[in-house]
Amino acid sequence: MTEYTIRTVKHFATEAAAIIIADLEEAIRLRGVASIVLCGGGTPLSIYRQLTVYQSEDAPWENVHVFWGDERLVPPDDPGSNYGEAWEALLSHVPVPIDQIYRMKGELPGDKAAADYATQLKEWAKTNDPGAPHAWPRFDVVLMGLGEDGHTASLFPGSPVAAAAPVITVTADYQGRPAGRVTLTPPVFNDARHIYFLVSGEGKAGAVYNTLHSDDPAQFPARRIQAGDDGELVWLLDAAAASRLDK
Ligand code: 6PG
Repeated sequence: MTEYTIRTVKHFATEAAAIIIADLEEAIRLRGVASIVLCGGGTPLSIYRQLTVYQSEDAPWENVHVFWGDERLVPPDDPGSNYGEAWEALLSHVPVPIDQIYRMKGELPGDKAAADYATQLKEWAKTNDPGAPHAWPRFDVVLMGLGEDGHTASLFPGSPVAAAAPVITVTADYQGRPAGRVTLTPPVFNDARHIYFLVSGEGKAGAVYNTLHSDDPAQFPARRIQAGDDGELVWLLDAAAASRLDK
């Protein structure tokens, strides 16, 4: 059984943003830089907007490095781009240096985008996280969404559970979103120091309940995400998303 904590928050965006900022600040205090992996979808957008409230005196964005957990295979200016959405909501409003934004290149064919990102992760780890035990960084903060079908990042129900490569290509139809995708895999997510599932709204209550009551990582991919011994996994829920858990 995965170890995790559930935090039900009243003010989803403001409380989530404050938690994320505290982790980034801690990382910078301890190691000089902070790394964060963003997720796609609509849920994080209010949090991204809230994060812009923290300007330089509150949050040293100059020391933050930004990555993605998954991307749709569309150009960065396409409305379906996870990068594009995060740029609009957050990154264009805070002073993160542009060369510290590591996007997945959705404009490339999937295999090329995956290989390119694996190289970016490896190079970053070599330079900024030389103690990292693998060919990818130990991320400070990882943000994860949850689909109504239990998917997370682009790890969908029925997809292979054991992926050895850090970045893979995926094809999946979900709510009319772009089907071609690239995604990080569980070994990369699971190395992180702080992993947050960000889930809000009644439409997700069933997925939250089913995921947390299942031990089947094939059907409920979010179960593949498990924190290591010195990491933490937190389900950050609003009351609506948590509403089936008490019953
Ligand atoms: C993506 C995502 C995906 C997302 C969930 C939840 O690129 O689509 O990273 O895993 O987080 O589908 O999306 P919503 O927040 O829009 O429900």
